[in-house]
Formats: sequence, structure tokens, C-alpha cells
Amino acid sequence: MTFEELPALTLDEKAALTGGASFWTTKAIGEIPAVTVADGPHGLRRQSSDEMTAPSVPATCFPPAAGLAQSWDAELISRVGVALGEECRAEGVDILLGPGVNIKRSPLGGRNFEYYSEDPLLTGALATAWVRGLQSQGIGACVKHFAANNAEDDRMRSSSDIAPRPLREIYLRAFQRIVTDAGPATIMCSYNRVNGVLASENHFLLTQVLRDEWGFDGVVVSDWGAVADRAAAVAAGCDLAMPSPGDASDAELAADVRAARIPETVLDRAAGRLIGLARKAAAARDAFTGDRQYDADAHHALAREAATRSIVLLKNDGALLPLSPSGSIAVIGVFAEQPRFQGGGSSHVTPTRLDAPLEALRAAVAASGGKVTYAPGFTTDGSGADAALVEEAAEAARAADAAVLFLGLAAAQESEGFDRTTIELPAEQAELAAAVVAANPRTVAVLSHGGVLRLAPLAGLVPAILDGALLGQAVGSAIADVIFGEASPSGRLAETIPVRIQDTAAYLNFPGEHSHVTYGEGIFVGYRWHDARDLPVSYPFGHGLSYTTFGYSGLRLAAAGDGIEVRVAITNTGDRAGREVVQAYVGLPGSAVARPPRALAGFAVVNLAPGQAQEVVIQLRRDDLAYWDRRVDRFIVEPGSYHVSVGASSRDLRLAGNIDVEGDALRIPLTLESTLAEVFADPVAGPMVGEAFAAQLPAGGADTQETLGVDILSLIGSAPVGRMTALSGGALTREQLEQFLAAANEAAAQG
Ligand code: BGC
Repeated sequence: MTFEELPALTLDEKAALTGGASFWTTKAIGEIPAVTVADGPHGLRRQSSDEMTAPSVPATCFPPAAGLAQSWDAELISRVGVALGEECRAEGVDILLGPGVNIKRSPLGGRNFEYYSEDPLLTGALATAWVRGLQSQGIGACVKHFAANNAEDDRMRSSSDIAPRPLREIYLRAFQRIVTDAGPATIMCSYNRVNGVLASENHFLLTQVLRDEWGFDGVVVSDWGAVADRAAAVAAGCDLAMPSPGDASDAELAADVRAARIPETVLDRAAGRLIGLARKAAAARDAFTGDRQYDADAHHALAREAATRSIVLLKNDGALLPLSPSGSIAVIGVFAEQPRFQGGGSSHVTPTRLDAPLEALRAAVAASGGKVTYAPGFTTDGSGADAALVEEAAEAARAADAAVLFLGLAAAQESEGFDRTTIELPAEQAELAAAVVAANPRTVAVLSHGGVLRLAPLAGLVPAILDGALLGQAVGSAIADVIFGEASPSGRLAETIPVRIQDTAAYLNFPGEHSHVTYGEGIFVGYRWHDARDLPVSYPFGHGLSYTTFGYSGLRLAAAGDGIEVRVAITNTGDRAGREVVQAYVGLPGSAVARPPRALAGFAVVNLAPGQAQEVVIQLRRDDLAYWDRRVDRFIVEPGSYHVSVGASSRDLRLAGNIDVEGDALRIPLTLESTLAEVFADPVAGPMVGEAFAAQLPAGGADTQETLGVDILSLIGSAPVGRMTALSGGALTREQLEQFLAAANEAAAQG
């Protein structure tokens, strides 16, 4: 909305518009309607009253992002977005506060369960699908938390201190993709500081990057309580302070405008954006003439499908899985009965129903004449191992054909609000696992957790592991479907499982100290770090087995459109139907900038019957080959022969090839700060400076190899050319140098 189109509002009314009316609504002023928001992202948390701790109405609890991302399935996630939109509409919600797309910088991040991945491309692609699905229903998304909100520790004060390359290439990239590809209605700025400036007051992030560079035209909403200074926030581009900051705060903002602390036009801009949002929301409400109910059964079925696709088969020695439902099974672990299926905090949903694994396993086994026994094995109250529970569990395992052991983290061990201090499985569970496997080696471990767990000890014990992360309300039926082979597992890790926490990228800089976090690992986050350091991992990014097998053949690479087209034939070489997630990684050996050996640049999902083959096409975008060049402050594609590898995980690469890519035009203008070597490399300035320089050397040129033991350019090639004035004893004047450089810059500008 332009300034002229603003309805006639007083200054006080405009100020009031930029602060919420309550915990979940914006203000209705005159003919401007209120907008209602509610938490997501994996389900609707529509609270029954305005109190922070009020219960929320029942809603479908889909798998939280940590689980859902393991599906690597944009189409599925878009359907989840549609379903969430229907539930919002049924409950009178205009904006759903999600998706959460911060990068999992450290496995210890307390809110990792709410985020997708350690990889920006995977995060961006999946969250784009979520936003599109949701917004197709007329409900606005609120992409959060912008930006670099990668830890919970000291989250409202801490500064994420990040160099330009990692900021652009890792921490902003998913946001950029979602903004440009999906056009979210709103963005939520985060609590933390970024390079010393509060995100809510960060003009660079909220205006320069988000609006001027990426073209975002929606509303920036503050995280709840993130605004410290209303005027500074509005001036930076944060349009709405949530929740209601109160009348006194609105009056203070108006007073700041009257005192010319910020121009009134800046407030108009924010108010105009809010009016635009309110009108759009009202129009979407009016346009919908359908039934405001949603089909809870259909949504539960979708939650089950999503959960099933999100389960990762980490290992399956001796093809222990799938189990036969007609045998006897010892189900062990309290999470079988009281499942861990979502995380704690603002995203916590009241599910419409809950499929507990124990019940689902019992139901499947009962239908096939098998038998289930159950032993809780441990408690989650922190009281440690209980010998009697361990013994009971071992007994049950011994007496059964196979044991299914439910392990993981309890709600109190990870949540929004604090980071974890360890990635170890709780000691009592490790002890239980050892006793159960000793009693029955045919043991399958099933894991529930939001953040990554160290699995090296467990993986050395059990022959089969299913990693569910967090699976939402259909957790039990989804696990039963996979355990008994109703579905072949097809999930893939969206995060590396390290051998040790000490091996992880942010280990020495997490969570930071004295309200500063140094992102010292730079762009080397997640698998980028493990691969660049050539570190062993327990399970690599992208890993996940199936009950069938897939062959890769016929890789073809072609320059296509604005990037690289990858074609590869995938064949189901096993005897069951299955779903393969084909991953394409790109590296540029010999790059002029630091790069990981490979980075995910595209992926595709294919469903194949036994023996069936299909050619899969993956389009790699040129943008995703680029690095951020801080000299020119933009993304640059380097010219060169790019190495494209295709496979089933970041460390299971089946085929590879190279393809030449033309680079972006990039010329850094020469200045007195350019090095002598850079100047010599220039076709115009090089000879000019060379000649003037040679004139300073003794007649016939000096053999500096003889006098100095090194050739002269190796010695002073890194010196800024401006210093040649002093180094030549004043013989090369500053004016002369400036002339040479200007000539070179002009010649380059004329091409
Ligand atoms: C969280 C947001 C959430 C908001 C409203 C904040 O504490 O960081 O993700 O949307 O509260 O509940």
C-alpha cells in the first residue's frame, strides 16, 4: 500500500496499529479489521484464552520439522501445509506462525526439533512447499526466526557473530529461497542480535536484505517480546510488535514520531503494511464460502502418511526388519506406551488423538495371530536405572522372537528455552539396551528425540535401528507400518549423526559466552564440516536404508536453463516396492574460495515397483552454485568444471561427472589497496606499473634471486600497490599510480 492509499488515521492510531491488541490478535481500528495469529508450525495451537499458559483446542499434530524433514518430500509437506490451512480456517486463524527454518548449527540446539536441517537447500525447498500449501488456503505463513537464531541459551540478548559468507550462504539462504519462491505473508524476526544488533532493530536484515534485495512485500512481525525499542524497531523494518506491548508503549512510539526521532513516513510504511495484511486476511475470510469444518480423520491419515515417510532405517543387519506380525514380540521402553512425539514450548499442540506404538503394535499383531508382551524398562523421572525394570524387560525379550526397544529423550530433556548439554542417550536406557540385546540379539531400537543422539554405542549393540525423530500424533501406527513392512522405510537423515559431539562444527563455539556466539566454523556447518575435515560419522547426512535396494545408472549432466540438469536412471533392484530419495551434490575442486567437498544442490523422490526403472531429472539451480563474494557484496558463480555426484546419501555417492559452468562477470576495480600481484595480472595496469617499476631497478634488471634469495614478485607481490610510492623511494608517485589504475578500470568498464 502506498502512502497516499492509507486511510485517514491519526498518528496515534497508526502507532497503535503497529502493536498487537492481545497475545494473538492485531488491533481493529475503524474499518481496518483485526488479524488473528496462532502458533504452529506442526499443528495449530489455538489457545482458548489470551493467557500464555491457556490450553489449546485439539488440532492435528503432524510430525515436527525434525521428523517431517526426514521425508525429503516437498509434495507431502505441501499437503501438510494445506491441511494446516484448513484447520486454521476452521478455528478462525489468519496467520500460522511457521515454518521454523533456522539452521541446525549444533546438535545441542534446544529448538532443533522445530527446524528442518543443517542444510540450507533442504530447509529452503521443504519449507517453501509448506508455505505454498498453507497459503493456497488463504492462510498466511510467518517464516521464523529471522535470523541466525541457532541456540536457545541467552536467546533474547545473545549476538550471533557471523562473517558475511556463512551469513549469506548458510543462515540466510533458506529464508531467501522461501521469500522469493513462496512469497510468505509475514516473517518473524528473532530474539537474538545479529552481529551486535537486535534482529528486531536490524535495518540491514529487515530492510536492506529482506525487502530491498529479496523483494519481500509482507509484514515483519516481532517474536513475542523481541522488541526493546518500538521506534528503533519500526525504523529498522519491524512492522508489528507482538504480543500487545500496551497502550503506554503505543503512546511512546507516537511521541517519538512527534519528537522527530523517526520520520512519520516510516511509521506510515509499517501501518500501511499492516493494513494491507488485514485487508488480505479479511478478503481471504470472505472469499471462503465452503465448510469451515475439517476432516479430522483425513488429517490423521495424512499425519500417519507423513510420519511413515519420516522414519529413517539407520541399520538393518541380517534384514532383521521387517518383523513378522505372527511371531511373539517383546515391546520394551516406556515411550511405547507414552510416546514422545513433539517438542515442548510454543509449538506444543493438543493432538486430536494419539496412536501409541504399543497399541498399534498390539493391534497389528492381534490381527495376525502373534503375541505382544510389554515391559516399560525405565522411567523418565531422572531417578536412574531400575534393576527390577531392567530384569523384567530382559525376561520379556528372552521369551520373545524379537524385541522392539523404544528409546529416546523425554520432554524435560529438550525443549524451546534451553539448549542441551549432551547428545548422549540417558544412561539408564543404554544400560537397558545392553541387557535386552544380551537376552535377545534380535532387537530393533526405535528412537524418539528432537535433537540428535550419539548412536555409536547403541549401533554397536543392536542389529536394527529405526530413527523416528519426532513423528506427531500418528507416531504409533507409522512405526507399526514400518516394523511389519506395510510400508518400506524411505526417510533420510536431514542432519549428520556424529561419532562424538567433539567432532561437530560448532563444538568450540557453542553456545558462546557473555552474550556473544562466534560462528567460527564459517560455512562449514553439518556435513560440510565433517566432509571437509574428513571425519568419520556414525550416519551421514542423507542416509537411510530401505527394505528394497536401488541401482543408479546412466548419469547425464547438461547445462540447462539457468543451471545444470542431472538425469539418472534409478532401478528398484530388490523384491519390494520402495521409495528412493536421489540426492545430487556439487563441489568445485580448485575453487578460488573455501568450499566444502560437496554441498546438496538438488534432490528428487521416486517410487518404484520391484524391477521397475525410471529416469529421474533433478534441476540444479545456478543460484545454488554461487558463493557470497564480500568484495562486491553479492552472490557470484565461479567459472569452472563443477563436480556433480549423485547418490543415496552424502557419503553413498554412486555416480559422478563434471560439467563446465560459465562464471558470472566479476571484476574488482583496482585501487591503491589492490596488491602488486593483482595489478600485474591486469592487462592494462600490469604493463604500465611493470615498466615504471622496472625503471627503478638497476640497468639490465636485477637478479633478485641472487641478491635477496627470492624473486621480487614473490617477496612484495602481496603489498598494496599504493605502498610502492614509499617502497620505490618516491620514484613512483601516487598520481602516477592513480592514473594507471584509472586507465585499467576504464578499459575494463568499456569491455
Ligand atoms: C517463540 C515463537 C512463537 C512465539 C509465540 C516465542 O517464544 O520463539 O516461535 O511463535 O513465542 O508463541
